[in-house]
Amino acid sequence: MDNFTFHNPVRVIFGEGQIKAVAAEIPASAKVLITYGGGSVFKNGVMDQVDAALAGRTVMKFGGIEPNPTYETLMKAVALIREQGIDYLLAVGGGSVLDGTKFIAAAVPFKGEPWDILSKGAAVESALPIGAVLTLPATGSESNTAAVISRSETGDKLAFLSPQVFPRFAVLDPLTTYSLPPRQVGNGVVDAFVHVMEQYMTFPADAKIQDRFAEGILLTLIEEGPRALAEPQNYAVRANVMWAATMALNGLIGVGVPQDWATHAIGHEITARHGLDHAQTLAIVLPAMLRVRREGKRAKLLQYAERVWGLRDGSEDARIDGAIEKTRAFFESMQVKTRFADYGIADPAFDTMLAKLVEHGGAKLGERGDLTLELSRKVLELAR
Ligand code: NZQ
Ligand code: ZN
Repeated sequence: MDNFTFHNPVRVIFGEGQIKAVAAEIPASAKVLITYGGGSVFKNGVMDQVDAALAGRTVMKFGGIEPNPTYETLMKAVALIREQGIDYLLAVGGGSVLDGTKFIAAAVPFKGEPWDILSKGAAVESALPIGAVLTLPATGSESNTAAVISRSETGDKLAFLSPQVFPRFAVLDPLTTYSLPPRQVGNGVVDAFVHVMEQYMTFPADAKIQDRFAEGILLTLIEEGPRALAEPQNYAVRANVMWAATMALNGLIGVGVPQDWATHAIGHEITARHGLDHAQTLAIVLPAMLRVRREGKRAKLLQYAERVWGLRDGSEDARIDGAIEKTRAFFESMQVKTRFADYGIADPAFDTMLAKLVEHGGAKLGERGDLTLELSRKVLELAR
């Protein structure tokens, strides 16, 4: 196990009826901007609860943050905040609203062109404080330092990481997820699953806690994911999915171990070029990725086959094949398709995506940095 420092300062307020807790978390004197997406929060009663909690406070709202939030939209919020002297942000929505709000929080005090935070890795020295009311378990954004932002005019989708944008608190009320359409339920479970895989499916580091926590999250998603589709109003199921998604990417399982993230890097290029949902891209890439890299990942694939899928018989290769096929079948059971053709993309723009991948520093990817561009192309070809 490698040396590490673990610090996650996000106060997670979990459970039914907890939205009212935002009142105590946000200072009474704060001038608050509530950020939201396309309006789902008005239909499912979440915004009403937020409004009730903040009644009598100085509050403004900024809506229209898109799935795969864009720089263009977010910069409008930055202008509004600078003009109005807003000093606290409350993100109400899914990962896109949270990520968008993190970028806004960093961009407001940033000196210079905020796009540099994404394109040049410019340091984020300060950010406005952020609170979150999460409505879509998937990204882990409510409890991490990451944000992924797109720029429509250039076709870029880029991430930044900064401890400055850790939310101060995050309310996770599983009831808010009852209104999710099946597509987003499936997306969320697949995204969380792949977050675990990016930190687990590498090579052994004798990190038993990280491995077993990771396997526990995978098993929970396999057990509860399909039930969330079948029994959308089952509170216990929703609660388990929600906590699993947070635990998948709040830093805990990734400490002291090698990490991969090649599936995400390629997935972001697919979204940028073809507009697929984030989790759809992961479901396309991961099974092909595991096939291409089965030798480098052999020991962990065997461990995964046994501990997660219960595959103990047959040759090593048969167990690995079985685990990869079960992974694909699980994604399909969550109604997330696993090939380009399933999304009506007969001729994926491989050259464009790979050129962008290189531009974004992805010429070599993976836990050993040995996923060359040729191999990334092979992954994409296998996923046709
Ligand atoms: O915009 P509204 O109207 O709110 O509707 C949203 C949106 O259309 C809807 N939705 C959310 N909660 C709902 C709901 N509909 C009904 N009931 C609810 N309770 O769902 C749609 C998708 O929302 P979005 O926020 O885009 O989904 P998700 O949470 O999957 O976030 C995806 C974004 O997060 C990034 C992705 O790249 C993508 O841009 N990621 C962020 C990460 C991070 N910060 O650590 C890591 C991830 O790997 C990922 O890259
Ligand atoms: Zn993801």
